[in-house]
Amino acid sequence: MLTVFGFVSVGIVQFKKVELMKHILITGTSRGIGKTLMEESLKSGHKVCGIARSPDFSEVKKYGENLTLIQGDVNDPELGKKIISTLSWNHIDVLINNAGIFLDDSWSDFEKTFLTNSIAPYFLTLNLLPLLRKCSDPKAVFITSQMGSIKDNQSGGSVSYRASKAALNMMIKSLSYDEKWLNSLLFHPGWVKTSMGGENAPLETSESAKGLLSLIHASEKTHSGTFRTYSGQTLPW
Ligand SMILES: NC(=O)c1ccc[n+]([C@@H]2O[C@H](COP(=O)([O-])OP(=O)(O)OC[C@H]3O[C@@H](n4cnc5c(N)ncnc54)[C@H](OP(=O)(O)O)[C@@H]3O)[C@@H](O)[C@H]2O)c1
Repeated sequence: MLTVFGFVSVGIVQFKKVELMKHILITGTSRGIGKTLMEESLKSGHKVCGIARSPDFSEVKKYGENLTLIQGDVNDPELGKKIISTLSWNHIDVLINNAGIFLDDSWSDFEKTFLTNSIAPYFLTLNLLPLLRKCSDPKAVFITSQMGSIKDNQSGGSVSYRASKAALNMMIKSLSYDEKWLNSLLFHPGWVKTSMGGENAPLETSESAKGLLSLIHASEKTHSGTFRTYSGQTLPW
């Protein structure tokens, strides 16, 4: 007996939608969306490397060799080198730049916010290109925000955060032309219940992370340079 979706157990061939195991590196995995992206990826059988300023190494015991944790600050320009020298893998299929901050709008807030939200993910990706190049379908993902959309800005405020994500969007649009072999993807995760999103946010981290991961894995080269939500809606720049 043959079935297209593979739930029939008697038969010669079973077709099952099997997702191949990927090597996924995620920044900002200590909490919030990054932590859930890490946990959901591990549950799906992928190998994950989490980057955190203060990693909880007891998590490695739980997931065994599928999880590598590296202590690192995305604002450290040497982080890429540290990852390359520490990681036992020789390639990365999916890099998810998730770490981000939301501060006020003083001069110093602007400096810190642009460093963490725009400059760091761009340069970390450039520094990890040698590991991404080794894959047949490499993806560099950037967790941006709808608040970085100039067209969508109907209320003002949160200027450093909005501007840092708008800058990130521009950098990654350029990256999609400069590195045509790489699938460069920008995603808004939704308004999510985390310390950044606050408790009034309508989305749990699991809903956002599952939506993001399913779109990331399904993304094709034609999606490179696009700006979409966790549910696949295209956003205006
Ligand atoms: N929540 C939302 O509604 C929402 C909406 C739109 C976009 N986003 C974006 O989604 C991403 C994740 O946000 P979230 O809501 O999960 O925020 P969160 O709960 O505040 O978590 C932020 C994560 O980023 C890490 N991080 C910050 N600066 C870092 C640095 N210099 N080096 C390494 N890690 C650093 C934090 O680590 P520590 O524990 O060390 O601080 C933490 O793990 C961000 O890029 C954010 O802009 C969130």
